[in-house]
Amino acid sequence: MQARQLRYDDILIDIINEEYSILPLLSRFSIPLGLGNETIGDVCSRNGIDVKALLLILNYIRTGIIDSDTISVVSPLEVVKFLKNSHDYFISYKFTHIRKNLISALDLEPNATNSLILNFFDTFVKKVKEHFLYEERTVFPYISALVEDKDTNYRIETFQQHHEEVVGALAELKNIILRYYRTTVPNLMYDVLVDIYNCEEDLISHSDIENNLLIPMVYDLEKKSGK
Ligand SMILES: [Fe+2]
Ligand SMILES: [Fe+2]
Repeated sequence: MQARQLRYDDILIDIINEEYSILPLLSRFSIPLGLGNETIGDVCSRNGIDVKALLLILNYIRTGIIDSDTISVVSPLEVVKFLKNSHDYFISYKFTHIRKNLISALDLEPNATNSLILNFFDTFVKKVKEHFLYEERTVFPYISALVEDKDTNYRIETFQQHHEEVVGALAELKNIILRYYRTTVPNLMYDVLVDIYNCEEDLISHSDIENNLLIPMVYDLEKKSGK
């Protein structure tokens, strides 16, 4: 069944109970808990969050549909804010959490595959960090400059051509663990696998927001500023 589009007057807690997978998205809008029985609109206005940006992102992730009326009135800076919060979440929390659990899930007998698994994970994190850094040092500042109508030589087309997926290394890691790895603590490793699958999905959504919401918004802004 196709999920319906969320609206201002939906009670946020009801939506979470229907679909708890929106929880990480809410955390990246910096929505504190203590949601009472408030609507999406009320929660946003109480916390100074742009409700249109929240609905645009939430509905796109839930349904795959981009609301054309909403996208035309949301500032790309709101999407950038959400993406930057997501970068911080992955780097400061999620990757560290997975690495710690991965170490405890490794077989207690030292073996070559243990270090291979950790190396795969560390290489993946390094690649994602470089990817995020490019966006934060080049792409996001360019978007701010464009919004402020400042002169710059960059074009969003460069980002579009340069924007590669980062989850490939995770697929290889899952493959090694699922196909070939035996551990004395399988329950811990099953937990890590769930985390890796979630993280992979989360990174794909992150990238979809950049490709399908942010980039078109910036193209539109470039056109309006005569670039
Ligand atoms: Fe990003
Ligand atoms: Fe990206």
